[in-house]
Amino acid sequence: MVLHPIFIFLIFILLAPLGHASTPSDKNSSPFDFLKKLKGSHKGNNTKEIHKLKAYLEQFGYLKYENETHATDDDFDDNLESAIKTYQKNYRIKSSAPVQRAFQTWKNFTHFTFAQVQTNRNSDLLIAFYRGAHGDYESFDAFRPLAHAFAPTNGSFHYNADIRWSIGAVEDYFDLETVALHEIGHLLGLGHSSDDAAIMYPTIYSGVIKNLHEDDIQGIRALYNR
Ligand SMILES: *[C@@H]1O[C@H](CO)[C@@H](O)[C@H](O)[C@H]1NC(C)=O
Ligand SMILES: *[C@@H]1O[C@H](CO)[C@@H](O)[C@H](O)[C@H]1NC(C)=O
Ligand SMILES: *[C@@H]1O[C@H](CO)[C@@H](O)[C@H](O)[C@H]1NC(C)=O
Ligand SMILES: *[C@@H]1O[C@H](CO)[C@@H](O)[C@H](O)[C@H]1NC(C)=O
Repeated sequence: MVLHPIFIFLIFILLAPLGHASTPSDKNSSPFDFLKKLKGSHKGNNTKEIHKLKAYLEQFGYLKYENETHATDDDFDDNLESAIKTYQKNYRIKSSAPVQRAFQTWKNFTHFTFAQVQTNRNSDLLIAFYRGAHGDYESFDAFRPLAHAFAPTNGSFHYNADIRWSIGAVEDYFDLETVALHEIGHLLGLGHSSDDAAIMYPTIYSGVIKNLHEDDIQGIRALYNR
């Protein structure tokens, strides 16, 4: 079967938006199972269930239809194609590298290895961007929190999509990697530190980069006796 390149790529990033750790155990079915049926769709096609993809992209602000009818139909139109392209640029280029580096940094001080997997079916960790209330313990608003994470077995790490994110120290923007280091600390079981030099200090400021500090390393070593 010939697959449309946009879709191969889209399926990959929707299912594995950033980094997941892999595990042999199996999990429930993915909310993105419907995407599998969209493989092979082209612009101009009418493809069953493509309205779900439209709804997903609209939820994250990538797609806006003036005419509601088009938002809920199954036409693969110009708006949808253009939204997919924007989505790919943002998610692929902006966020996966800093998150992968943050996992590498933590890996240095634990016995864990982390690998990104193609689907979230059998991953321990799932990382994604959300906006507002998104069905878990804590809603996001336009300013806070920057992100949150729940240790396994939950394993979710959510960035707040309304925050201004950067790669590196940019005034008024928050560094993706610094926040990833903090949230991965939570994923690994660490709580907050009262040492303001530690990555696990509860507050992270815009415009700055932070790395692991001796306090964080002692914390993770104490936790895993390593
Ligand atoms: C989708 O559109 C392409 C190009 O117009 C066409 O070749 C293909 O048969 C269509 N597929 C379906 C499932 O309609
Ligand atoms: C919305 O699109 C549908 C289908 O193309 C069309 O029949 C309808 O008139 C449009 N509505 C408006 C308000 O433009
Ligand atoms: C991991 O540790 C090695 C050895 O200390 C170091 O050279 C490397 O820079 C570290 N990598 C990260 C991503 O911290
Ligand atoms: C994590 O918890 C949230 C509820 O706050 C839930 O929506 C989500 O499905 C959970 N994820 C896993 C992998 O258990």
